[in-house]
Amino acid sequence: MKKFLGLIITLAFIASGSLYADSAAGGAIVKKKGCTSCHDPVKDQLDKGMGPSWANVAAAYKKGSGKDGLLKFFAGSGDPIVAPEKFSTMKSQLRVTKKLSDEEKGNLADFVLSH
Ligand code: HEC
Repeated sequence: MKKFLGLIITLAFIASGSLYADSAAGGAIVKKKGCTSCHDPVKDQLDKGMGPSWANVAAAYKKGSGKDGLLKFFAGSGDPIVAPEKFSTMKSQLRVTKKLSDEEKGNLADFVLSH
């Protein structure tokens, strides 16, 4: 029984490690692609012509369509739910996210939802 518990704990540890790796990879993408110039982890900057915080984006998608919804948004086939009236500023960025691989889009979604 003890051995079994040890195995479960080890597996859980490995699983959480890989989740962390995915969101860390997403964090590298937002830096490389310049998303961070408009998106702060916690500070909304919509009134300054920039974007909502990752925390607010995460909260909206956790309440709504979750990771699938974010993947659709990044693929250019979802509607904006956070600040639709400011979507014109974000729209051109979808040219960048659309070109990412499915794995990269997944990493990006994990990164956003980790807030
Ligand atoms: C020039 C500023 C700017 C840049 C750069 C930018 N964004 Fe945005 N982003 C916005 C604004 C403004 C909104 C609010 C409009 C909206 O909700 O779509 C937004 C909204 C979003 C949303 C919420 C979409 C929703 O459902 O409403 C996500 C997710 C997002 N951005 C991801 C990204 C990613 C990933 C990048 C980098 C590839 C990026 N943004 C780069 C300005 C920007």
